[in-house]
Amino acid sequence: MSNYSNLEIKRRQFLKYLASSPLIASSLSGCLNDDPGNPQYNDIAISTLKRGSEGRLSAISSVDQALNVFDFEAVAKTNLTPAHYGYIATGVADNITLRANREEFSKIDIRVRRLTGVNQVDMSTKLFGETWQTPIILAPVGSQRAFNVDGEITTAKAAKNKKHLQILSTFTSIPIEDVVKARGKPLWFQLYPATQWNVTKEILRRAESAGCPVVVLTVDMFAGSNRESMKRFKKEDSSICGACHFPGRNSRPMVSKLDFKLSTPLTWDFVQKLKENTSMKVVIKGIVTSEDAVLCLENGVDGIIVSNHGGRAEESGRATIQCLPEVTAAVNGQIPVLIDGGFRRGTDIFKALAMGAQGICIGRPYLWGLAAFGQEGVESVLDMLRAELQLIMKQAGTASIKNITRDYVQSTQIIIP
Ligand SMILES: Cc1cc2nc3c(=O)[nH]c(=O)nc-3n(C[C@H](O)[C@H](O)[C@H](O)COP(=O)(O)O)c2cc1C
Repeated sequence: MSNYSNLEIKRRQFLKYLASSPLIASSLSGCLNDDPGNPQYNDIAISTLKRGSEGRLSAISSVDQALNVFDFEAVAKTNLTPAHYGYIATGVADNITLRANREEFSKIDIRVRRLTGVNQVDMSTKLFGETWQTPIILAPVGSQRAFNVDGEITTAKAAKNKKHLQILSTFTSIPIEDVVKARGKPLWFQLYPATQWNVTKEILRRAESAGCPVVVLTVDMFAGSNRESMKRFKKEDSSICGACHFPGRNSRPMVSKLDFKLSTPLTWDFVQKLKENTSMKVVIKGIVTSEDAVLCLENGVDGIIVSNHGGRAEESGRATIQCLPEVTAAVNGQIPVLIDGGFRRGTDIFKALAMGAQGICIGRPYLWGLAAFGQEGVESVLDMLRAELQLIMKQAGTASIKNITRDYVQSTQIIIP
């Protein structure tokens, strides 16, 4: 067991003991429900999230009982405090964008071909010269120790076993060097820049020293975000916040020793500066329009992730799968286009590949797996998505990723050029 696990378990045991006294618990808790009478408390958005994103309530007791990735969500919800589950589940405002990310997939149909003789499929994908067994990527997610004692290390072990690309958040709760060690090879590093360039430069140097070949600049969070659902879940939480959040805990080791202040809105000048000051490939995460895709090309960006932060940034109402066609059309194959947001099924992945994406990042599903069953849970989620992608590829008669072309999808509601 790692040092992280030992310390954490002792700390949690002690706090559990304290919590068993109602008097002590209520005086220690920093997140007791102080407003149970809030009239909006039971609004539809939040009650949907409470039941899990697909409205399911049932929970499984081992990974082999899971039929799909949603089965892990119910367990994650049971295992986590309401505040931590709320951190995963939340969208912004009325959660319209969050829901759109899922719902828009149902407006795209797959045109399967018959009698193709395809029995074996090759899901391998090449990104920046490196070949991966599948296009399924673990999206950057901060603070993973909120979901599992060893957080990003557990995710890295699963990524290693299943050979998936993992992107590490600036707000990782475990130092990058330890995560790279657990993964057994360098990861892509996601950057939230600081207001001060010298601080940003220090973060970049650390990622470069850890061997990261790619920096992913997230550009959809600078204006802040209105995560109402998260606030409601937090109000409901009667656990002792100090069990996870306590002074001196090095919860953001990439930035905690630096004078880090999250940057205010950036311009393309920053992208130029980043390009000039790093040896890593620069990928921009959060692009959703053709105009910005063209600017990415003009500014020498090496890749794009079409993303709305899983519906956690602005309430645009636009699903990423809706944004994908205009971005791929603008990019016209000049740089890789990846996507994330609401991918829960192999068929979702297939549709994005047919619409020109080269990599599909997943966020919440692997967090559900992580919170539900640790490494085994993450591995199982990855296995399921791989198996579902493999199945639809066989069913559609596409023997390899490059065979999944525009001809394999149709939509009467989304314009796919
Ligand atoms: C709990 C949580 C934390 C996240 N933290 C980060 C982060 O630190 N950096 C980042 O670029 N994106 C972050 N994201 C967004 C994900 O990288 C990704 O865009 C999103 O989860 C994809 O949507 P999905 O969850 O529907 O798969 C986070 C998402 C979640 C759910």
